[in-house]
Amino acid sequence: MKYIFANLKMQLDYNETLNLLKKLKNDKKIKELKNIQLVVCCDYISIPDASKIIKNSNLKLSSQNIFWEEFGAYTGEILTKNLKKFNTEFSMIGHSERRINLSESDEMINKKIQNALRNEIIPILCVGENLKQRKKNEQQQIIKKQIISALKSIDLKKVKKIFIAYEPIWAISSNNGINIDPKEADKMNNLIKEIIIKEKNIKEQIFNKKITLIYGGSVNDKNIKELITKKNINGVLVGSYSTKSKNIIKLIDIINKSI
Ligand code: 13P
Repeated sequence: MKYIFANLKMQLDYNETLNLLKKLKNDKKIKELKNIQLVVCCDYISIPDASKIIKNSNLKLSSQNIFWEEFGAYTGEILTKNLKKFNTEFSMIGHSERRINLSESDEMINKKIQNALRNEIIPILCVGENLKQRKKNEQQQIIKKQIISALKSIDLKKVKKIFIAYEPIWAISSNNGINIDPKEADKMNNLIKEIIIKEKNIKEQIFNKKITLIYGGSVNDKNIKELITKKNINGVLVGSYSTKSKNIIKLIDIINKSI
């Protein structure tokens, strides 16, 4: 199974989001999807109506964030229960745009993952270094730190599923948008695998069952084939390119032909 996560970010308004979902739902190729799971990561406000549209379709729904508490005096936050009520099966956690713009710390990210897991929401953990760190060749230690803190106190044997997206900040289209060499993306995902197997002291078999590694950063029709056919890349997290239904369908076409 290969995965496409469409991270709409804050790039479509309510009507545009629902129109995108309707177009996707009614597309013949998406109706016939077999080996690809398409997940749309919507803004909170669109989720209740998005959940009605995706009913009886091949689409699944993700939020772009989740809070670490389930209930209480937390002004401005979202109840996990409400996400569940509206069929949100996944939550993105620790996207670099939140780490940077909202100062999300590794500790917050760890608590968010724990809350998602408690509530049977599948986390999509995002990790990645910035350009300065990459230029200093610090990417491996940055990723190691992000992974270890995000998964602190989490017993992977009890976890159903976690997705981890390696998403270098310098490769995101709204930043530098430098195209990564797919071999490098594969190498970084392999590093994530090695770190988790070692730190959590688990067998590769358990890792493969519990963790799915994906890649994000300027994914489009030009680079998807090379990325998706790499050993350690089982899916993609697509930002700007995913805001048009025809682009998502193009990605599906290419993946179908490459796997
Ligand atoms: P782009 O695909 O626009 O580079 O965004 C990547 C991303 O941040 C997905 O989460």
